[in-house]
Amino acid sequence: MDDVKIERLKRLNEDVLEDLIEVYMRGYEGLEEYGGEGRDYARDYIKWCWKKAPDGFFVAKVGDRIVGFIVCDRDWYSRYEGKIVGAIHEFVVDKGWQGKGIGKKLLTKCLEFLGKYNDTIELWVGEKNFGAMRLYEKFGFKKVGKSGIWIRMVRRQSL
Ligand SMILES: CC(C)(COP(=O)(O)OP(=O)(O)OC[C@H]1O[C@@H](n2cnc3c(N)ncnc32)[C@H](O)[C@@H]1OP(=O)(O)O)[C@@H](O)C(=O)NCCC(=O)NCCS
Repeated sequence: MDDVKIERLKRLNEDVLEDLIEVYMRGYEGLEEYGGEGRDYARDYIKWCWKKAPDGFFVAKVGDRIVGFIVCDRDWYSRYEGKIVGAIHEFVVDKGWQGKGIGKKLLTKCLEFLGKYNDTIELWVGEKNFGAMRLYEKFGFKKVGKSGIWIRMVRRQSL
C-alpha cells in the first residue's frame, strides 16, 4: 500500500469530524463492546482527543480520503505508572481498509512521535480484541494488567 500517507491532522472542522466519526463507527463494526457507543459518543470522544493531543493526532489518507487515525498523547498522567507517560487514546482503521498494513504505518508514526518524549507508552485494549493485541505485541507492548473488560498494555524503552 504505497499510496497511503500518514499526516498530522492540522485542524478539526465539521467535515473532518464527520469523516472521522464514519471511520470510527465502521472500524469498530463487530467490536461494538469496545467502541460501539454510538455516533454521539464518537463525536464527543474525537473532540476530546483533539483537545487533549492536537500535536499527536495522525491520520492515514488515500488521496484526500481519511481511512484511519491514531491519537498519541505525550502528556498523560498514568495513575498505574505514577507518572506522565505517552498514551494512545484511539486507534482505528476503516473496515474496508483493515488488514492492508495501514494500522502498522499509523502505529509506527505514533511510536516515533511519542518516543521523543516518553519512555513509557500505555494503552487499553478490549480483552477479546485479539487482532489489535497481536499488533501491539509485535510493536513491543506487553500486557500488564486488567480492569473489567480492558487489558492495560505498556511499552517501555530507554530514551
Ligand atoms: C487494530 C487496527 C487499527 C489495525 O489496523 P490494520 O490496518 O487492520 O492493521 P494492519 O493491516 O497494519 O495489520 C497489522 C497486524 O495487526 C494484526 N491484526 C490486525 N487486525 C487483525 C485482525 N482482525 N485479525 C488478526 N490480526 C489482526 C495482524 O497481526 C497484522 O499483522 P500481519 O500483517 O503481520 O499479519 C484495525 O484492525 C482496527 O481499526 N480495528 C478496530 C478498532 C480497534 O480495535 N482499535 C484498537 C483499539 S485498542
